[in-house]
Amino acid sequence: MTQLITINTSKEINPLDPLSKEEVSKAVSLVSQNLEDNTSYRFVSVELLEPPKEKILSFTPTIEIDRIAKIILLNNKTTQTEEWKISLSQEIVLDRLILSGVQPNILLDEFSECEEAVKASSEFQKAVALRGVTNMDLVMVDAWSAGNFGTAEEKNTRLVRALSWVRSDPDDNGYARPLEGLIAVVDLNTMQVLRVEDYGVIPLPKDSGNYGADQIETELRNDLKPLQVIQPEGPSFEVNGWEVSWQKWKFRIGFTSREGLVLHTLTYDDQGQERPILYRASLSEMVVPYGDPGPNHNRQNAFDAGEYGIGMLANSLELGCDCLGVIRYFDVNLITSRGNVATIKNAICLHEEDFGTLWKHTDWRTNKAEVRRSRRLVISSISTVANYEYGFFWYLYLDGTIEFQVKLTGIVNTAAIKAGDRPKYASLLKEDLAAPIHQHFFNLRLDMQVDGMKNTVTEVHTEAEPPGETNPLGNGFFAKTTVLKTELEAQQLIDPFSARYWKIINPSVKNAVGDPVSYKLMPMENAIPFADKESSLIKRAGFITKHLWVTPYSPTEMYAAGDYPNQNLGGDGLPKWTSSNRNIENEDLVVWYTMGHHHVVRPEDWPVMPAAYIGFMLKPSGFFSQNPSLDVPPTSPLHGSCKA
Ligand code: NI
Repeated sequence: MTQLITINTSKEINPLDPLSKEEVSKAVSLVSQNLEDNTSYRFVSVELLEPPKEKILSFTPTIEIDRIAKIILLNNKTTQTEEWKISLSQEIVLDRLILSGVQPNILLDEFSECEEAVKASSEFQKAVALRGVTNMDLVMVDAWSAGNFGTAEEKNTRLVRALSWVRSDPDDNGYARPLEGLIAVVDLNTMQVLRVEDYGVIPLPKDSGNYGADQIETELRNDLKPLQVIQPEGPSFEVNGWEVSWQKWKFRIGFTSREGLVLHTLTYDDQGQERPILYRASLSEMVVPYGDPGPNHNRQNAFDAGEYGIGMLANSLELGCDCLGVIRYFDVNLITSRGNVATIKNAICLHEEDFGTLWKHTDWRTNKAEVRRSRRLVISSISTVANYEYGFFWYLYLDGTIEFQVKLTGIVNTAAIKAGDRPKYASLLKEDLAAPIHQHFFNLRLDMQVDGMKNTVTEVHTEAEPPGETNPLGNGFFAKTTVLKTELEAQQLIDPFSARYWKIINPSVKNAVGDPVSYKLMPMENAIPFADKESSLIKRAGFITKHLWVTPYSPTEMYAAGDYPNQNLGGDGLPKWTSSNRNIENEDLVVWYTMGHHHVVRPEDWPVMPAAYIGFMLKPSGFFSQNPSLDVPPTSPLHGSCKA
């Protein structure tokens, strides 16, 4: 059961609040007034330019802080990109920077305009007819980012390499029928189809791939009894504007069109002391490299944050039923390419979930059992990137644990094959349909603030004690800690065989046993890339070659593959910044964690994927002096019973 609630929204603006509808409109009109020729521009994004940390951390409601909007524009005529800074409080333009040779992310309007342009191209229509398709209304064209493989065209033209599919009716899952071998190369600035590359006709796959309740041939199960979440006294969280308090946690929610969900100023109330842990946490970049080296698929590697804007693609969660229980939704205000406010209603979902056992012990002598239930606060948002869905979930737990998880679902990228072929670089879904092997890399930017600004990162792994005088029975092993002093030392990979993890410590604050207070970053599932070191992918997505990166804080270092990864030749972002090997010991620092989900597609991933999960945890490790959840009261269930 889903209950919607309205919670009082404070009129006071906090300097970290995302831009309101009115602020987005005001920013657009201030930019438009200063443009020579409105019609040649597209708005890429409008977002809050966050004030400096010092101002945020010393903020009180009596202090006035200028609200500044950062706007990115694309000029279709000059092909230049512009970065504007607008003071909303003073209603003036603070800065206008014109950049050449960079490509901002592909915009939603460009997706639909590109589809129209490709479908109208006679060259494309001819190629489609060779594949037995005449009704262009049923053809779907997805604008895939072109990447950069060193050609002049990639350097100078705003390109996409569009792939296409065909539906058998408007409600059909088109991804079941790829128009294989066809790539329409489109200039997005002029919306001209530059050429259609045809690598040979492969017949359309026979079977449909529908998954709707009214479309599947199997009868729906009739033995699932209702399972309801009832919160008769309401939720345990409080919301004030964009600030959320829940069970000793306090933080602010943010959202940008590029990163999606952002968490700001996360603290934990430890016996009356509000202790900071994270200043800002967000998804900084994503990339999905495909492993098929054939000409149809060898340039596919989508940077879903920097090339598509994962926040811009967020679902409105009023469509479909995504969360159970008492839900608080947040709307976000983004922008269309033509400068209209694009409000995504219910883009962010806030709710609580029961999470099984928190802790338990039964004293077998007294037969007394103490058990507490775990519960988590969930902050989530789901984005659709053409065929794929990514759900982004932050979880806060009663014991001080923070977890981030991505749920991967939706429809896998497909390729038509000749019946009887056994592809090396793809998995068979049907005898004439396959899904190429691929990976999904995510990089999280974690601006840490463990009990203060100055932190240090250490590497911890476990070693076996060599047998000898101190280890006569050969059973000895111990955890070894090494301080990571510089950016290069901090470039690390996971190592499950040595039980490696990393700690973010505050060397100036000691815990009850005399060690620096800390949170540990616990890697979970991960992978390394398989693309060649010299490949375009690795040059452009250098951040995926290491799982851990640590940098001293810089407000201009936000995105792991650089500000403009679309068609970037490579080298930007983390590899570039860290090449100067700055000091990271006892600094205001940012931890960047890369995690890779390796996807050898299964037949069971078709026609729609059961969610796959990937994530990591930040766990208190000497941050508290003992289990901080002893004070969680025992549960007495209202409905159901724990008695037999
Ligand atoms: Ni996948």
